[in-house]
Amino acid sequence: MATTVSTNIDANAAQFVAQTRKMLINGKWMAAASGKTFPTYNPATGEVLAMVAEGDKEDIDRAVAAARKAFENDSPWRRMTASERGRLIWKLGDLIDKHTEELATLESLDNGKPLTVARAADVPLAAELFRYMAGWTTKLEGNTIPLSVPYTPGARYHAYTLREPVGVVGQIIPWNFPLLMAAWKLGPALAAGCTIVLKPAEQTPLSALRLAELIMEAGFPDGVVNVVPGYGETAGAALAAHPDVDKIAFTGSTEVGKMIVKAAAGNLKKVTLELGGKSPNVIMKDADLEIAIPGAASAIFFNHGQCCCAGSRLYVDAAIYDKVVEGVSEQAKKIKVGPGLDPATQLGPLVSDEQLRRVCGYLESGFSEGAKAAAGGHKVGDKGYFVEPTVMVNTKQNMKIVQEEIFGPVVTAIPYKNVEELLPAANDTVYGLAAGIWTTNINKAHSLAAELRAGTVWINCYNIFDAALPFGGYKQSGWGREMGHEALELYTETKAVCARYA
Ligand code: NAI
Ligand code: MG
Repeated sequence: MATTVSTNIDANAAQFVAQTRKMLINGKWMAAASGKTFPTYNPATGEVLAMVAEGDKEDIDRAVAAARKAFENDSPWRRMTASERGRLIWKLGDLIDKHTEELATLESLDNGKPLTVARAADVPLAAELFRYMAGWTTKLEGNTIPLSVPYTPGARYHAYTLREPVGVVGQIIPWNFPLLMAAWKLGPALAAGCTIVLKPAEQTPLSALRLAELIMEAGFPDGVVNVVPGYGETAGAALAAHPDVDKIAFTGSTEVGKMIVKAAAGNLKKVTLELGGKSPNVIMKDADLEIAIPGAASAIFFNHGQCCCAGSRLYVDAAIYDKVVEGVSEQAKKIKVGPGLDPATQLGPLVSDEQLRRVCGYLESGFSEGAKAAAGGHKVGDKGYFVEPTVMVNTKQNMKIVQEEIFGPVVTAIPYKNVEELLPAANDTVYGLAAGIWTTNINKAHSLAAELRAGTVWINCYNIFDAALPFGGYKQSGWGREMGHEALELYTETKAVCARYA
């Protein structure tokens, strides 16, 4: 059974975890068809935090049927004007703000991240995303298009395009930013007028379930948003393969992304993917180290390195390499590791025992291949899933820790001699999600930005996100973009209408 959470936390959050959470289908809170439940854990202690209804194929079938019904032509959702739809989405953003403390506490309890970070970043960014998308509902315009059909008397043509919602959308999200990933997915889908079945990650289902309550409170019609918690291999796989789902949007591992593509082939549903990364972060000789050193530390240690865009390969000009490694290592050693609810904590536990084992496995593999730790390198304590902020040196390009996504607070620092040597090394990865450049020479910055194969390039900053800025990957980091109007377009179909008139 769920353990009691300490009483000096937000009372609403404490109450939320004290009850077995149900799933939302067609506006109603239901147990799983099978009656099964599963535990979600507190990563700071390894104890069960709450029990949650375990969705499976049958629940996904019900949720998809509800979403399909809510998408019918004469449904309340489809009859709603664009402006009314926008106001609902805006209201949801405001409700998120109103419940900041509760949502941030749930996020910290379920994922492990510092409460201070969830309060300052995850929750307000989620609210802002909905408000940004709310403004688009009234701006989804098509075009009028001149045709060149040869003239015959009595047959002229008027042609235009409509942007219509893609339909019923399945969305599968990960555990690193549980609420924010739900917002990134739901925001554009709702703005476009789609209906949705959302499956949160099994490690962190709570904030999405609380968000679902706020969605109902905002007044979205039944069935527009359905939330089915459960495991990837069961609920997730059923959603990806479902023949009545028009689009699947996925964020998670590249490995599962490839499985989603195969599962989607059955009915050729549209697919967007936001997958892994191994992002190069480059510090040039002329960088302002006052900002570059803390910037490089935060690029990897933010969210405990559990970011798809983490700056995990730090390339440093050989002339300043020792100084930078020393500086970033000092930062790493200063970081306060502890439970997310402690206000002094800067780096919380990893999300799960599985991630702890995965990250420690990478550390061991690095050491066995000859890498050394300039800072950190070990697990912390026996309780919870804590790992020290780690700076690895003495690495070689072909090592696993340089090639593979670790998804933990581990950066590999690599010296380079000149840009001719840097560029092929930086681009030598199957991923292409993000990159960072630190330099005071704006010419060099833009020329390197143009040559890096990555969906986002940050110059003299890192991990800056904005609802208006598209985010997504080149190469095996994914298909399509999240946020910005590009995300919205990926939730619409273009209909060309061509009419003959005399
Ligand atoms: P995962 O890719 O297995 O999980 C992400 C989501 O996909 C979860 O909701 C999960 O339930 C679902 N899922 C899993 N298998 C599925 C299937 N067969 N069909 C449909 N849905 C499925 O990621 P996992 O195992 O939690 O983490 C493994 C690694 O993936 C991490 O170490 C990290 O490298 C990467 N990852 C990347 C993320 C990103 O933001 N791009 C987020 C989470 C993990
Ligand atoms: Mg997995």
